[in-house]
Amino acid sequence: MNSKSYQEEQRRQLLTWLAASPLLALAGNQNVFAEDAKELVRNFTKRPDPMVWAPNTPLDLISNPKEAINIFDFEAVAFTKVPPAHFGYMTSGIDDEVTLRANRTSFLKYQLRPRRLRDVSRIDTSITLFGTRWKSPIIIAPTGGNKAYDPEGEVAVARAARAGGFLNILSNSGASTIEEVIAARQGEVWFQLYATSSPEVAKQVIRRVEKAGAPVLEITVDRNGGRNQESLARLRRLDPRNCAGCHVNGVGSVQGRPNYNGINMTGVNMQSSNMTWDFIKQVRDTTKMKIILKGIVTEEDAQLCLKYGVDGIHVSNHGGRSEDGGRGSIECLPEVVKVAKGKVPILFDSGVRRGSDVFKALALGATAVCVGRPYLWGLGAFGQPGVERVMEILQTEFTGVMQQMGAPNIAAIEESMIYRGT
Ligand SMILES: Cc1cc2nc3c(=O)[nH]c(=O)nc-3n(C[C@H](O)[C@H](O)[C@H](O)COP(=O)(O)O)c2cc1C
Repeated sequence: MNSKSYQEEQRRQLLTWLAASPLLALAGNQNVFAEDAKELVRNFTKRPDPMVWAPNTPLDLISNPKEAINIFDFEAVAFTKVPPAHFGYMTSGIDDEVTLRANRTSFLKYQLRPRRLRDVSRIDTSITLFGTRWKSPIIIAPTGGNKAYDPEGEVAVARAARAGGFLNILSNSGASTIEEVIAARQGEVWFQLYATSSPEVAKQVIRRVEKAGAPVLEITVDRNGGRNQESLARLRRLDPRNCAGCHVNGVGSVQGRPNYNGINMTGVNMQSSNMTWDFIKQVRDTTKMKIILKGIVTEEDAQLCLKYGVDGIHVSNHGGRSEDGGRGSIECLPEVVKVAKGKVPILFDSGVRRGSDVFKALALGATAVCVGRPYLWGLGAFGQPGVERVMEILQTEFTGVMQQMGAPNIAAIEESMIYRGT
């Protein structure tokens, strides 16, 4: 199915759903509860207050990155350009996608307390992480298989990171090698690792990555079990292509990922359900790279991170892709901050879509903030220029929020600038 007929199919399905809606059926029935039905329809069609006068439907598509008003403009375009199965993989949460939605709605529980009459004519958004200075606290999160969205994949992302001066973290399940990505970035790149089912394989990859020059290793600790990605499953049904055409070793398998080239991968799978704190100790003894654990959402585990000598903690629920029924990621941040602030850097992600989200996370104690899907929307929509523009929009929004909040630099962002409502 090409993207035009796919869109037409989507529209047809929506109309079918509306036609079958019990609400409309009730409204059309003159004999039963006619007045109730009218009331229901009145409520259903009540105009928004405030009224939305600027139409913004998913079908309003931008034709180049410069037209984008916000990062969501890229999501709609990516939906039309990326094959349904790949878009489904990107967008999907787990089961009912409760955690996925909570990642967004939880930000609304935190409100801004701006300070006035401060000189914010010059804004410095720079931070320092393990001795390297970055112009922005916004980081490109590790995501696997970027060639599913653009033929240049991780290399396009790395070039965009270079253009904007952002830190990017390469996933071990990336479709490009660490060497290729460092060459494209022409600078520091961090590496993210799923330990896989084999600690020995993990150690071989770690040695390769260290040799390539990555200074920081992020070990992801929140993907230990199988998962039911329902949005993926449903969108995959709309994709007429045969997965085996590209996924020669099977969808989701670790075999054939280029960062494992030359390593015996017989019987190895991506999940690390046998991983324990002892593995972290072994990694500590294997490498001089800084170690960050990604996927920590409780103070108990934050405490263990400190006990086992990790160098950084990444608060994340994998963008709602690890388990469903959890809290929004931003709600997990304060308890980790309580334990770890000032001891190790704290990265944060999941659900960040606005400059104000970045600000809230920093005010609550994060050192830096990562984004996942947003840059993939940019990549799928327009390749490297799309990623560049997504990151630029986020950085511009964040800079504006800092001015509004009376915070000329990152150190001036204080916890008192956040109010926890209900
Ligand atoms: C398509 C996709 C692939 C991902 N692949 C990885 C991965 O290989 N390793 C990892 O640690 N996290 C992975 N993540 C999670 C991201 O690193 C990050 O935690 C998450 O996307 C942040 O949430 P957000 O998408 O709401 O910004 C992936 C996320 C997406 C959307």
